[in-house]
Order: sequence, then C-alpha cells, then structure tokens
Amino acid sequence: MHLILWAEDAETELRAEVAQSLPSARVRPQAPALLELEFELRPHDPLPHLAFCRQFLPDVREVRADSIRAWTAAVFPALVQLVPEGNPWSLHVVPHYGERTEHHIGARAWHSLKHRTGRLAPPPRGQTSPDAGQHRCRLIREAMVDLLRQKRRHLLRHLRPEPVPFTPDDSLVQLLLTRPNHGFLSVAQAPLPFAQRHLLSPFPKGDVPAASDKQAPSRAFNKLVEAETRLGRAIQPGETCVDLGAAPGSWTYVALNRGAQVTAVDRSPLRDDLMDHPGLRFLRGDAFQFEPRQSVDWLLCDVIAPPERSAELLLGWLQKRWCRHFVVTLKLKDASAGALLPRLKQNLPPLTHLLFLTRLSANKKELCAFGHAAGRPDSLRPDAF
Ligand SMILES: C[S@@+](CC[C@H](N)C(=O)[O-])C[C@H]1O[C@@H](n2cnc3c(N)ncnc32)[C@H](O)[C@@H]1O
Repeated sequence: MHLILWAEDAETELRAEVAQSLPSARVRPQAPALLELEFELRPHDPLPHLAFCRQFLPDVREVRADSIRAWTAAVFPALVQLVPEGNPWSLHVVPHYGERTEHHIGARAWHSLKHRTGRLAPPPRGQTSPDAGQHRCRLIREAMVDLLRQKRRHLLRHLRPEPVPFTPDDSLVQLLLTRPNHGFLSVAQAPLPFAQRHLLSPFPKGDVPAASDKQAPSRAFNKLVEAETRLGRAIQPGETCVDLGAAPGSWTYVALNRGAQVTAVDRSPLRDDLMDHPGLRFLRGDAFQFEPRQSVDWLLCDVIAPPERSAELLLGWLQKRWCRHFVVTLKLKDASAGALLPRLKQNLPPLTHLLFLTRLSANKKELCAFGHAAGRPDSLRPDAF
C-alpha cells in the first residue's frame, strides 16, 4: 500500500490523473489530502508523473503508538533493518492530522461533505490547526536521533541534516502522523527515492519553504528558486537565459544575481534598475514569436497565456534543442488541466533527461514543467549574444 498527498485543493485532479496513469491502482481516501493507493511498485520502473501529487510515501505500514517512547520503539527496528548502512538517508517525521480523533468526522464523511459543498470544510472550531502535531513530531524525531546516537552511531553519521536532492544512494524514511497515536511509516530504500524523484520529495510532505528576498520585484521569484532547489541545479555565473514574459522581472532578477546573461522578452518593461543592468538584453515584443540566435542554457517562461500555448512553446524549444534547462509555468484556466496533461506526459519525457511536471509549493493555481533537456545543444557558447 502506498500513500500520496495531494497539492492544495487538487483531489479531483489527482484522482483523475491516477485513474488515467495508474488505471489498475485501487484508490481509497485515507485522511484529508491523503489518498491510499494499492498497486505493485518496482523500484526501477519509473512511476508516471502525477502533477497534483505533493509527496509520495511508498510501501507504508500502519503504526499505532501512545507515547513518544512507544513511537520510537515502533519505528526504530524497521529503520535499523531497512536503511542501508554507510549510505545517506533522510528522516521525515511530520504531522498530518486533518481532524482530531474524538470529535472528528471520518474521512468518508469529510469527502462527501466536500463533494456536496464543493469545497473543503473548515476544521471544527478549536480542533485542528495546521501546526497540530508539530511539537509531537519534533519530540519523536529527537527521541529517534537520541536512540541512534546510543545504538547505531554509524547510521546517524549518514543522516542528512537538511533536504538535498536525492542521489542514487539516498534512502528516505517518512513517518506521517495522522493522529497523535496513529500514523504511517514508509521506508524507501535506495535507489527508489532517486528513481522516483519526480514524485518523492526530499522536503517533508513535499513542502518547499518559501525563500524571502525583499529586493525582488515580486514574490514570483520564489517559483524559480523552488524549481532550482528541486532540480538541485541553480543558474550558474556566465550561463545564458531567455526569460519569456519577464516583467516586472523577478526571474530575470534571480538569473542576473546568479551572474547569468539574460535576454528578457515582454510587452512591458522590467523594473527600472533591471533595465539598466549590464547583463540584460531586453526585447519588447511577443514571447511566442521570439527565436534565439543560439541555443541557451536556460529557457525561463512565465507568460500569462493559455496553458496549451505555453506547452507548445516548451515542446518547440525542446524539439529544436534551443535550451539545456527549462522552467515553464502553465497557467490553468480552471483548476483542471483537461487533455493537456496526458499530452505533456506523453511528449515531454522523450525530449528530457530529467522532468518535473508539478504544482510548486510557490504556485497555487499553476503547474510548472522544469528539468533538463535530452542531449546537449551543439552551439552552446556563453558569449553567443
Ligand atoms: C506572471 S507575469 C511574469 C512574472 C515574471 N516571471 C516575474 O518574475 O516578474 C506574466 C508576464 O507575461 C507577459 N505577457 C503576456 N503575454 C505575453 C506575450 N504574448 N509576449 C510577451 N509577454 C507576454 C505579461 O506582460 C506579464 O508581464
């Protein structure tokens, strides 16, 4: 049995994706925002892209425990037995309480309520806050680390202190508490987290913390920073970027700060200080008409346009090998991605070496496609402007 957490208010979309991409999977709601899936998972067979999945917990087992000590006792043996020694691993201990035990409505009732009202019912007053369980989870994690220090120092030495992109040697242990005394344990042994990294996040519950930069022209800079973080590949000094739909200039701002050369295309100018930046070439015009003179390192595209147009643009750039890396947002008109997603899931993988097709933590209404293009463009020169 596996669990998936869906991105904000995207249950319907995720269910449609699962039905389309994993037709033989048995699906059951487990808790708010949490679906249980039954299907055979082979570590080396890549799972389909599920754009509305926020985190994947493979091969979960149910755990019940009444105290911090009992939680540690229940989880420790599995951890010691399953985490490969001498290799890096990560430990997520996170709450996902939804409603509380005593007065809570069950998952089924919650779903039928959501179905009837068309929206998520707010938790009953005084019951659950988004922070519920954080403290308990912190204590469980600390107790596990203490026990490792006493009994398995070599395992503790390889525990990752911070989330970093998975390598083929990385394992991931996730403990998700759905109530103070109930939860699920998932141990994903290497190389599964790396092989399925389009669905498994090194960040607890797949939530990438928002970066903060008061100098950026807008909060949109967060989207690009999150994509870089999840890729494990930031824009490098001297790299070339094309930023389509660039105004007011947050993405360009990030790229220029990294030392890149940026061609920005928009119908409106960027913020004044950016327009004067020596690393910028600004072109006023239509992003969809722009063609680079040479292949570039990065295609950045955040144009407000129908998602089908942005998707076509991305496919065109990849087919023509105009970029090595890409970050492209797809602005969904209504919540649904209709026929677009199946087409992208079919057409993007052959053109990419690494692909994320997902809803970023930083974008609530859009999807984002980012990754590395397949192969290497021939005419890649940093001075190709
Ligand atoms: C969401 S904003 C981009 C924000 C930008 N990424 C940032 O970080 O500041 C979308 C931009 O797309 C531009 N835009 C919309 N259609 C366009 C088109 N056909 N060609 C060029 N720019 C376009 C708009 O002018 C707008 O500035």
